[in-house]
Amino acid sequence: MSDALETLKTELERFGEANDAATNERPRLMLNITRDTGEFLSVMVRGTVARRVLEIGTSNGYSTLWLAEAAKAVGGSVTTVEFAEYKVKLASATFSRSGLSPFITLVHDDAGHLLQHGDAGAYDLVFLDSERPEYPGWWPQLRRVIRPGGLLIVDNATSHAEQMAPFVDLVKADPAFTTCLVPVGKGEFLAVKTSS
Ligand SMILES: C[S@@+](CC[C@H](N)C(=O)[O-])C[C@H]1O[C@@H](n2cnc3c(N)ncnc32)[C@H](O)[C@@H]1O
Repeated sequence: MSDALETLKTELERFGEANDAATNERPRLMLNITRDTGEFLSVMVRGTVARRVLEIGTSNGYSTLWLAEAAKAVGGSVTTVEFAEYKVKLASATFSRSGLSPFITLVHDDAGHLLQHGDAGAYDLVFLDSERPEYPGWWPQLRRVIRPGGLLIVDNATSHAEQMAPFVDLVKADPAFTTCLVPVGKGEFLAVKTSS
């Protein structure tokens, strides 16, 4: 990792913590992943050689940096979707400072809309970190855009286990997917598409 990228990540971690401690206004919260989750995502992208990565829920782009850095290393790139204009502006500023812009496509859209229009099997790895009550409704499209052998990683599986339960049950009941829970950060729920 370059010194400049490490400095940017550390700056975003401090900003996220201070920002989220200072406000209760949900649209203003950064809600970033933890650093160990970033390290985990990096290993997952590199280990599975995930070249086509989709992130749902960009915020100010902290998690995207981990994904994009790893995707770049394996010859790939990241598409990240965010519907809040305020966050899109912050993320754009993050990406232009990161040196990773050529490896990131930032889409200002509703994730449900983007998924609806995504090609079947378009992604090797999807990182889902958005509004949890939406997840069950997104599942038919999510499962479609993940390629056979592809991986879904969902944040907040232990920090918000109750809210995640309907989605987790849905995925676990899907015979095309094999799942597990990884106790890193806020808890990562993993599902690999074992058949199409
Ligand atoms: C938990 S934050 C993402 C944090 C980010 N992954 C990180 O760790 O740096 C969730 C983000 O999803 C966005 N979001 C919520 N619903 C969305 C939707 N339907 N489409 C696109 N973005 C959405 C929110 O505006 C928020 O910025």
